[in-house]
Amino acid sequence: MASRVWGCLLCVCVLIASVVSIRAAEGESDSGEYVVTLDHSNFSDTVSKHNFIVVEFYAPWCGHCKNLAPEYEKAASILSSHDPPIILAKVNANDEANKELASEFEIRGFPTLKILRNGGKNVQDYKGPREADGIVAYLKKQVGPASTEIKSAEDAGIIDEQTIFIVGVFPEFSGEEFENFTILAEKMRSDYDFGHTLDAKLLPRGESAVNGPTIRLLKPFDELVVDFQDFQLDALEKFVDEASMPIVTIFNADQTNQPFLVRFFNSPYAKAMLFLNFSSELFDAFKSKYHDVAVLYKGKDISFLLGDLEASQGAFEYYGLKEDQAPLIVIQNMDNQKYLKANVQPDHIAPWLKEYMDGNIKPFKKSEPIPQVNSEPVKVVVADSLHDIVFESGKNVLLEFYAPWCGHCKKLAPILDEVAISFENDADVIIAKMDATANDFPNEIFDVQGFPTLYFKSASGNLLQYEGDRTKEEIIAFIQKNCDKTVQQDSVKDEL
Ligand SMILES: *[C@@H]1O[C@H](CO)[C@@H](O)[C@H](O)[C@H]1NC(C)=O
Ligand SMILES: *[C@@H]1O[C@H](CO)[C@@H](O)[C@H](O)[C@H]1NC(C)=O
Ligand SMILES: *[C@@H]1O[C@H](CO)[C@@H](O)[C@H](O)[C@H]1NC(C)=O
Repeated sequence: MASRVWGCLLCVCVLIASVVSIRAAEGESDSGEYVVTLDHSNFSDTVSKHNFIVVEFYAPWCGHCKNLAPEYEKAASILSSHDPPIILAKVNANDEANKELASEFEIRGFPTLKILRNGGKNVQDYKGPREADGIVAYLKKQVGPASTEIKSAEDAGIIDEQTIFIVGVFPEFSGEEFENFTILAEKMRSDYDFGHTLDAKLLPRGESAVNGPTIRLLKPFDELVVDFQDFQLDALEKFVDEASMPIVTIFNADQTNQPFLVRFFNSPYAKAMLFLNFSSELFDAFKSKYHDVAVLYKGKDISFLLGDLEASQGAFEYYGLKEDQAPLIVIQNMDNQKYLKANVQPDHIAPWLKEYMDGNIKPFKKSEPIPQVNSEPVKVVVADSLHDIVFESGKNVLLEFYAPWCGHCKKLAPILDEVAISFENDADVIIAKMDATANDFPNEIFDVQGFPTLYFKSASGNLLQYEGDRTKEEIIAFIQKNCDKTVQQDSVKDEL
């Protein structure tokens, strides 16, 4: 499902990676001349006519989409004169009419770009850069063969030493191993560059004599080169996934780390992140101790990142951390719970990680401070007051989850104010709001897939999501219909 929260989490991932400020403005991006606009009515027709077409699913409110728009348009204009022309298209996934299309493509963040081949029969994620020249170079490669033959030392020049390159070394270009390699290359071509050769001596690293079909992964970190000889498809894919992930992902201003950061933040595993000032004199000690634990827990469903304070502003905001807590380790587990060790020393790393792995550390919650004064009609709820105000108050509570950058939330704000004012004399009803970007809340209770999301908890504990129109009248009617009268000692006495 296309959703704004996911969109935003991904935005944050990209934000963390590129240290761009988080601002999603409203409004439609300008239509250019070369990017083809598609919608639910003409999508299939258009796609079926092309062997190769790129589709961007975007949302008008998403800032990253706006940044991409001029670059995408420029790339489209350059690629229109490629032979054969490469078509770049876009779909507004935020448009109600296109939501089914977006869900068919499992769009979870914006912008998401898909490469559709064979009239749409094969779909791949676009994993390339987001500026025009990068888009052009990446797509030119995608439209060619999945793997390039390396016949000479000159051909080997296509191996970029800064990224991962995967080479199949074969005694001949036939047989089941070669076929499986070709299938792998087709399947993973949007993630990695592939080549094949008859002569391992042409490759910049690794054994020059190989016995039988071998897949060799060249990478700019850790062991630099890894060979593998099991050509079962699943085994090949697993090998590439594992060998291509650094033992410790580095997060600093160096742009060449970006693809690894994106993979780190998108990985399904628990994430351990150590943030410190890379200029610190203890940096080497931290790095080596941290590397040791990363090696120790390799293959245990946890990935490791080492981040420089200078580059991590976005991550600090996202995880609700403060600079004076650095050096710190934060772990986000697979259930999205967070664990924090602030002001850590190199020697604390291994024992704390062990405590975490043993299940002896309590999760920590991101929360804004509980406001001293909460006298506006719409009450402010933060993570630390959610329990008291929403679950334990015995009141009927309408709670809005909002994001500060969300335009629809801004539009709703004065309406909620009016709703709150209309219930001001009803002590049984609370209208409240929570900044969902600054406060953790239990995801298993509140399924917040977009902003604003409104939940209603009745006095007796019924929980409902409000999905009606965002008008004062409808919201009031909804509350009146679903609200339970609380037994209020005082008023009962008064009536007696
Ligand atoms: C698809 O339909 C939309 C909306 O009617 C239109 O703006 C767009 O130009 C159409 N695209 C093509 C390729 O026909
Ligand atoms: C190629 O992959 C298929 C599917 O995984 C597998 O059954 C077959 O054994 C593989 N061939 C070789 C030579 O490993
Ligand atoms: C990191 O440390 C250096 C040297 O001590 C200092 O100049 C710099 O301001 C620090 N950076 C941050 C973000 O604290």
